[in-house]
Amino acid sequence: MAEIDLRSDTVTKPTAGMRQAMAYAEVGDDVYGEDPTVNRLEAMAAELLGKEAGLFVPTGVMGNQLSIRLHTQPGDEVLIESSAHIIRYEGGSASTLSGVQLSCVPGTRGLLSPNDVEAAIRRPDLHTPPTTLLCLEQTHNVGGGSVYPLETIHQLTDIARRHGLALHLDGARLFNASAKTEVSVAEYAATFDTVSFCLSKGLGAPVGSMIVSDTANIRKLRRLRKVFGGGMRQVGILAAAGIYALKHHVSRLAEDHVNAKHLAQLLQAIPGVAVDVESVVTNMVMFQVPQASKSTEQILEDCRESGVLLNAVGDRAFRVVTHLDVSREDMESAGKIFALVFANT
Ligand SMILES: Cc1ncc(COP(=O)(O)O)c(C=O)c1O
Repeated sequence: MAEIDLRSDTVTKPTAGMRQAMAYAEVGDDVYGEDPTVNRLEAMAAELLGKEAGLFVPTGVMGNQLSIRLHTQPGDEVLIESSAHIIRYEGGSASTLSGVQLSCVPGTRGLLSPNDVEAAIRRPDLHTPPTTLLCLEQTHNVGGGSVYPLETIHQLTDIARRHGLALHLDGARLFNASAKTEVSVAEYAATFDTVSFCLSKGLGAPVGSMIVSDTANIRKLRRLRKVFGGGMRQVGILAAAGIYALKHHVSRLAEDHVNAKHLAQLLQAIPGVAVDVESVVTNMVMFQVPQASKSTEQILEDCRESGVLLNAVGDRAFRVVTHLDVSREDMESAGKIFALVFANT
């Protein structure tokens, strides 16, 4: 039986059409700025997000970390939501690579409130680190794919601007937010100095992320990318996958959201499973099996043996993510497997 892999939207494999585009990509040395396919992808990303220029980077982490380095000096403080990817899953790189201190503000499903952010910005004082950057995450991963309303983003970015902070958006799944709300990615991006987004998650490319910003910032980021070891050569082969993804895989993201909602409804019908169906707005479902006598690890193992892969996010708490490589039928099969596994926990 084929495995249904719901661990993340990073597990997708390139489609036949994408592989074809990669195989025939025109390439050149991108460190010299001579890869025509990379140049095309960078221009395409900038245009889509309404910014002057773009930069292709190997990973989402590098997109975030280059942006943090761009906007800060060692000893600065960066405001961030407590469960943001940048603090939880980037290996402590903001402190290592930029020498900054992260100030964590708790949010609701990963979303910050304007009042809390205003209160957390330090006022100039000899003793305190200057707060110089606010980072937001859209959609929010640990928040279960939650989406900031545009109005809240504007409130937050207005406050940050008033206090002289720079603004970075970790938009790893920004296209999922846009698919959900029909607010364009350019509207979401408008009030940020830098925005990063991933080609290798819901968009289905095997590798790559983008940063978009104004021309002067991208020039600095291009140098920083070299400093961080991310200057790549005939990388048009990968950029071609990104172009293909932006052309062919954006309009289908809504399908992933419908599948996630459906799976949440199937989970809700299983005795012992706690899931908030209303909170499922994009491609992630968070659920718990609080009374299970089996351990979290045993549950993961039982699911794997029955053909479904998923991730644990806490004690008997799990996350499933829908993507390009799972179908409506896979949701039905996964729902049945969960029912069987959780009936015996
Ligand atoms: C919100 C968010 N930001 C950044 C990243 C990092 O992306 P990458 O794995 O390409 O470094 C991820 C990866 O899951 C993510 O969920």
